[in-house]
Amino acid sequence: MTHPTTDADKKASDRVIIFDTTLRDGEQCPGASMTFEEKLEVAELLDTMGVDVIEAGFPIASVGDFESVSEIARRTKRAVIAGLARAIPGDIARAGEAVRHAQRGRIHTFVSTSPIHLAHQMRKSEEEVLEIIAATVAQARNLVEDVEWSAMDATRTPVEYLCRCVEAAIKAGATTINLPDTVGYATPDEYRTMFRTIRERVPNADKAIFSVHCHDDLGLAVANSLAGVEGGARQVECTINGLGERAGNAALEEIVMAIRTRRDILPYETGIDTTMLTRASKLVSAVTSFPVQYNKAIVGRNAFAHESGIHQDGMLKNASTYEIMTPESVGVNKTSLVMGKHSGRHAFREKLKALGYDLGENALEDAFRRFKDLADRKKNVYDEDIEALVDEEILTAHD
Ligand code: KIV
Ligand code: ZN
Repeated sequence: MTHPTTDADKKASDRVIIFDTTLRDGEQCPGASMTFEEKLEVAELLDTMGVDVIEAGFPIASVGDFESVSEIARRTKRAVIAGLARAIPGDIARAGEAVRHAQRGRIHTFVSTSPIHLAHQMRKSEEEVLEIIAATVAQARNLVEDVEWSAMDATRTPVEYLCRCVEAAIKAGATTINLPDTVGYATPDEYRTMFRTIRERVPNADKAIFSVHCHDDLGLAVANSLAGVEGGARQVECTINGLGERAGNAALEEIVMAIRTRRDILPYETGIDTTMLTRASKLVSAVTSFPVQYNKAIVGRNAFAHESGIHQDGMLKNASTYEIMTPESVGVNKTSLVMGKHSGRHAFREKLKALGYDLGENALEDAFRRFKDLADRKKNVYDEDIEALVDEEILTAHD
C-alpha cells in the first residue's frame, strides 16, 4: 500500500462512498436469486447500516426486478437507490421509471470500452461507442440529477481511449465515473495507476466522483479496490459476503474493516456501522442459501476462533496478540477458543473454569492428558465431551 501522493488524492482524502450491489451484481451470482420480500429486507438492513448507495437491481431485466427496484426506491429513507441500465434508450427509460419515487434516485448506465468487447460483443467502432456514451448519459441526465456511467472492461481498455470515453461521459452529465475491473484481471499497481492517469489526463475529471468495481477472479478484488481508492477513487462498489458474477465482487465487510483497521495507511472513512456486518452477512447468506466459508475474513465462523495452544495462551494474556480487530466491532459477541488437539493447558484450565470446574493440579493434569487423547481421535471436541471427560475423572478419583 502507498500513501495518497498527488494533491488531488489528498484533497479528497477522507470519505469513501460505499455502493452496495448485492441486489444486482450479487444476485447475478448463479443460484443466488432473491424473492421480492427478501430484497426489501436486505435493502432495509443495508440502509440502516449506513450504505450510501444501494444498487437495487436491473429494472429492464424482468418485471420482478423493476418492481423490487421501485419498491425499494419508495421505501428507502436515506441511501441513494440506483437502477442499472445498458446504454440503450429503453433500458435507461425503465431505470428512470423505477427510481422515480426515490428520495435520491440514480441511473447507472454502462457500456463496454475494451477492444475485445467492441470487436466481439458490441461490434461497434470506438467512435460509435463515444457517440453512444454522449447520447445515453445525456438521456439519463434528463431523467435524474445523479447519473453514474461505467466503462465495462475498463482495465482492458487502452488508457488513451478510456480518457476520451470518461471525458465524453462527464461532458454529457455523468456525476460518477466507474472504471470496473469487470473480469478481475488487474493487479493493484495497475489499477491504482489507471485511476491516477485518468484523473490527471481528463480535463473535466474533477467534476465527477470516481468509483472502483472489482471482480475476484484472481482473488484481488479487495486489494484492487483499495488500490483504486489510493489512486483517487472515492466510491467503492462491493457486495455482502463478496457475492457476485463468477468468483464474486469485492466483499463490503472486508473493504470497510480494512479501512477501519488500517487507518494509519488508508486515511479514509466510511459511514458504515460495522457492528451490523455479521448480521448483514447472515441475512444475505440465509436469503441466497449461499453458505459463508468458515475461514472467510471478517464474517466467517472462524474469523475470531483460535485453536492453537500458542495463540490461545496469547489471547488469554492479551487479545491484541492475535486479533487485529475486536469481534464486537463486527457484531460478534466474543472470541472463541476452540478446544482441539492444538490447545494447551492454559486454555484447557480456562475452559474448565468457564464450565464450572475447579480441579486440583493432579486431576487437571490427568484430565488434560485424556482431553489430548480424545482430541487426537475426534475432529470436534465440544463442551459436552470435556464435561463427560472431567466427570469421569472426578468419579475415578472418588473410587
Ligand atoms: O463488472 C462490471 O463491469 C459491471 C458493470 C455493469 C458495472 O458489473
Ligand atoms: Zn460487476
